[in-house]
Formats: sequence, structure tokens, C-alpha cells
Amino acid sequence: MTGILQIIADVLVVSGIAAGLALLLVLAERVLVRYGECRIRMNAERELAVQGGRSLLEALVNEKLFIPSACGGRGTCGYCKVRVLDGAGPLLPTEEPYLTADERAAGVRLSCQVRIRNDLRIELPPELLAVREYACVCGGIADLTHDIKQVRLELSAGETLPFTPGQYVQLLTPPYNGVREEVYRAYSVASDPADTAAVELIIRLVPGGICTTYVFEHLKQGDTVRINGPYGEFRLSDTDAPVVFIAGGSGMAPIKSMLHAMRNSGSARQATYFFGVNKEEDLFLVELMREFEAHLPAFRFVPVVAQPGAGSGWSGETGLVTEAVRRHLRDGRGCEAYLCGSPGMIDAAVAVLRELGTPADKIYYDKFA
Ligand SMILES: Cc1cc2nc3c(=O)[nH]c(=O)nc-3n(C[C@H](O)[C@H](O)[C@H](O)COP(=O)(O)OP(=O)(O)OC[C@H]3O[C@@H](n4cnc5c(N)ncnc54)[C@H](O)[C@@H]3O)c2cc1C
Ligand code: FES
Repeated sequence: MTGILQIIADVLVVSGIAAGLALLLVLAERVLVRYGECRIRMNAERELAVQGGRSLLEALVNEKLFIPSACGGRGTCGYCKVRVLDGAGPLLPTEEPYLTADERAAGVRLSCQVRIRNDLRIELPPELLAVREYACVCGGIADLTHDIKQVRLELSAGETLPFTPGQYVQLLTPPYNGVREEVYRAYSVASDPADTAAVELIIRLVPGGICTTYVFEHLKQGDTVRINGPYGEFRLSDTDAPVVFIAGGSGMAPIKSMLHAMRNSGSARQATYFFGVNKEEDLFLVELMREFEAHLPAFRFVPVVAQPGAGSGWSGETGLVTEAVRRHLRDGRGCEAYLCGSPGMIDAAVAVLRELGTPADKIYYDKFA
């Protein structure tokens, strides 16, 4: 027994020393090593002069070339992919889980993990070159529930942010209280695409979260806010296949925008929206959804309350949203599904849809991770 404890103690000491040395190396590189100016050749047509030592993501954002970065450069979202043709050094273990074999072969890297130490050659897709930054004024913040707010960001006069319903923008959080650096977070556009004067977001408070705490405790009407976008491939197909929407909480944002677009075009497409919440008081925008039902002949809104309060008189669907989908859908072959929300909810919904026969390539989602 004493022998085993001694081995565990030795392993802990060696691991501690190794971790300490790795940290020292990183700090030494940041503080002591000066890479000077490096050049980034982009799409074989533009050259940027940037300060070496920073990440490729930081350098590009600094040049107003906006790359999606849902985790703020922590290497945990896999959104910041950029094709690096030359000069990036070996792939890091932190990048491996996010890159397919084809992407690795094509030189795709997580730009937040690539440190600039020499000249680079990169390629950015045209849709990212079209991304712009917008300075907006907060036109209003309304409580939708105790932990969800609807935020209206007015664009400058004459400016528009062309987006396809389902896409998202990145909201910049300025430094506040103990937060020393600006961070970007992704938020799906909830707006009616016909309302070109503003961008509407639906934001749920994440306790301890940098951006949502700023929105809930600091942002007020009249403040200037910077966003950039649009980003993302999540969007309604233009087929006639029946649609199943599944989204709870702030996951309603992109679905709401898609429903506005369907209403604007007078769509007759069959569509059902399963909106899962925990308690009745977590429901919101129900009147708007009923309005969509009144104007879209083949649309149904199905709110699902997991745990209705005792004696509340709730007569709608109860239990998990996936259970309601199973009860209503029965046969998912021929459907297209659009899901939005937490990774856990999406994984559960995908499993149920697959059981009901919906092909994997007809299930589209945005994970709010
Ligand atoms: C494509 C996309 C669209 C999205 N759309 C929406 C939307 O419409 N509405 C919406 O509400 N959300 C949306 N999200 C989620 C959103 O981008 C944010 O992730 C979320 O709002 C939390 O941001 P935050 O800055 O408040 O939290 P963060 O600061 O990112 O923190 C999140 C959690 O991690 C913890 N944490 C913070 N720092 C660390 C650290 N260094 N190590 C470990 N844990 C840490 C925090 O305590 C907290 O619990 C979307 C996400 C994606 C990817
Ligand atoms: S910004 Fe999230 S992985 Fe790079």
C-alpha cells in the first residue's frame, strides 16, 4: 500500500514539474521572445504586416478580418478555421479534435491556436471577406423571462446588415469590472429580415459568463455596441419538405427569424415548432407564435412544459420536448429538422429524429456551445 502511494506521489510530482515547465515556456515565449514584424499573404492578393507573437485569429481581427470565434480564442469551439498554406508549424493537440482528415490535408487550422512566428500564407473564403463590423446603438432591452432578454441593436442610418435567417453575429463585450479584455460571443439573429433598421438578439443569462453578465447587468438603452457578421450555414433549405423545428429557451432566436421569413413570403410549407421549456413561466413570445399560426396555413406551434406547476391549469404538452416530438411526429422520413440550443438538447433530439427515420443529412443544427 505504501509502495502504491509512493508511486502516485512520484507521478504527481513529475506531472507537476512538467506542467510548470510547459507554463514557464509559454510565459517566456510571450514575454521574452520578440518575433518582430511578420507578413501574412492572403488569397494571393493582399499582404498584411502584423506583429509576430500573437495568434493568427487576433492578428486577423485586428485587421478587421472577422473570423468566427464562439469561445473567444480558448480553442474549445472549433469555429475559427482558416486554411494556412505555409508557415503555421505543426498541428497542435488542441486542434486535432476539431479537424477532419480532409481539413488537415488541406492545411486547415484553428486560427486561435496558430501563433505567428514567421511569414504566413493563408486563404480566406469569400463569405468571410464579406463580414463587416457594425457600430449599433442599443435601442431597447426587454425581459422575456427571468433569465432571457430581447435586445434590439439599431444600425446607423442608411446601414443594413444583410443576413439569411439562421445566421448569427458576434457581439463584442467591452472590458468591465474584472474583465480586462474585449471578448466576442456568437448570437443568432432573431430579427424579421424585413426589419433592416436593427438586429434583434435573444440572450439567455449564463451565470458567471462574461458577455451575458455584461448584457444583463451593464448594457442599457442608448449604449453603443459593436457587432460583426453575418456568419454560419444554418438556414432553411428551399425545398417543400415538411419542417420540424426544435428549440428551447434562447434557441428560439434563429427559428423566429426563419418564421418571419416564411410569413413574409406567404409560405405554405408544412412546419411544426416544438418549443421546450422547464416551467410555464419560461415560455415567451407565445402570442407571436400564435400570430404565425394564424398567417401560415400549415404551421403549428407546440409549446412543451417539462414540469407544469401543481394546479396551474396547463393543458398543453408536458415532459421532455423530445417525448412530444415522438408523440406528434411518428414518422420522420421525408422531413427536414432544424434544431437550436444546448449540445445536450440537440444530441437528444438528433437521436429521436434518427429513430423516427429522419436522414442524418436532413437534420441541421446550431449548438449554442
Ligand atoms: C452559433 C452560435 C449561436 C449562438 N446563439 C445564441 C443565442 O442566440 N442566444 C444565446 O443566449 N446564446 C447563444 N449562443 C451562446 C453564446 O455564444 C455564449 O456562449 C453564451 O451566451 C455564454 O457567453 P458568456 O460570455 O456569457 O459566457 P462565457 O464567459 O463564455 O462562459 C460560459 C461558461 O463557461 C464558464 N467559463 C468562463 N470562462 C471559463 C474558462 N476560462 N474555463 C472554463 N470555464 C469558463 C463560465 O463560468 C460559464 O459557466 C450561441 C453560440 C453559438 C456557437
Ligand atoms: S476561437 Fe474557438 S476554437 Fe478558436
